[in-house]
Amino acid sequence: MSIQVAVNGYGTIGKRVADAVELQPDMELIGVAKTSPNHEAELAVENDYPLYAAIEERVELFEEAGIDLAGSVEELVDAADIVVDACPSGIGAENKSMYEEYDTPALYQGGEDADLVDTSFNARSNFEDASDADHVRVVSCNTTGLSRLLAPLQEEYGVEKARVTLVRRGGDPPQSGRGPINDILPNPVSLPSHHGPDVNTIFPDLAIDTLGLKVPATLMHTHSVNVTLEDVPSEEEVKELLGSQSRTFLVPPKYGIDGAGKLKEFAMDRGRPRADIWENCIWEESVSIEDDDLYLFQAIHQESDVVPENVDAIRAVLGTADAEESIERTNETMGVGF
Ligand SMILES: NC(=O)c1ccc[n+]([C@@H]2O[C@H](COP(=O)([O-])OP(=O)(O)OC[C@H]3O[C@@H](n4cnc5c(N)ncnc54)[C@H](OP(=O)(O)O)[C@@H]3O)[C@@H](O)[C@H]2O)c1
Repeated sequence: MSIQVAVNGYGTIGKRVADAVELQPDMELIGVAKTSPNHEAELAVENDYPLYAAIEERVELFEEAGIDLAGSVEELVDAADIVVDACPSGIGAENKSMYEEYDTPALYQGGEDADLVDTSFNARSNFEDASDADHVRVVSCNTTGLSRLLAPLQEEYGVEKARVTLVRRGGDPPQSGRGPINDILPNPVSLPSHHGPDVNTIFPDLAIDTLGLKVPATLMHTHSVNVTLEDVPSEEEVKELLGSQSRTFLVPPKYGIDGAGKLKEFAMDRGRPRADIWENCIWEESVSIEDDDLYLFQAIHQESDVVPENVDAIRAVLGTADAEESIERTNETMGVGF
């Protein structure tokens, strides 16, 4: 029987994970849960995703909006083999006791604290750590992007120290209340930003310092990366290594892609759903070696790079595939890889 998957929280991440689960031959999306009957609730109904009320007192609002509910979130969690919690940051922690009550393993997202869970997760870096875990956190978009980059570098050359400046989008496109509107903010102004310690939830012994900025952009994050390597390769060797990874896209100079705007246009032209870019986008021309140091720029699509990771985390927790099989299946069904 296929894996019965529930998605609690059907917003930016949840709706993408639900669609990705639908594509998996070994999984069945048994429902999604929300608190308000907005356009995303209508979308779930249009997609034939059974819709569940996340909060009992809100059931009336769905009735008034003429949106049929399949039941309560408790019923959904009870029926599921695993639940993907994609609620706003902090709500996942509040939901944990419900998942425990129904003995349903749960995946959480990067907005939750690392100490909420048994392990943090990135498919390329530590797939096996999630085996049999009850509570697993798929790390944030930025930590996912850094883990995918650092895992092969660590394996092939050894990382003496990584230093990353993260130029972060102020908010997602629908988050019109976020900012800055016209500023460039060191954020946080003190070091390190939380990203380095978050990478250490995947690579406990890795030396990494991170600095964060927030800018008036919504499309993607951009990382300025410097990694001091133990064994120093040539630039061509690094390009070959990073180009051979299944979730990194080495942006070729001939494409004339100079930033996030053209990357999103490229994704739209290639027919990507919601113009999603599941891969790390590393500018090939930026890959440079100076003495022992590797430098590069990569762009990360915050709304979507964690989606294939959630799919893999489901198989990792339930032990239905190993890392290689799962990553390959997810990539093939979703169309990951340009
Ligand atoms: N967006 C990103 O760039 C990004 C990237 C990586 C990871 N993450 C992480 O992913 C998680 C979700 O973020 P998001 O961006 O997807 O947030 P989001 O767009 O606000 O979506 C969360 C959804 O959960 C629903 N919700 C609110 N309270 C709920 C409850 N009690 N039970 C069930 N559903 C509830 C909300 O819809 P209703 O109010 O209509 O129910 C909302 O649509 C966070 O931990 C975040 O840090 C986000």
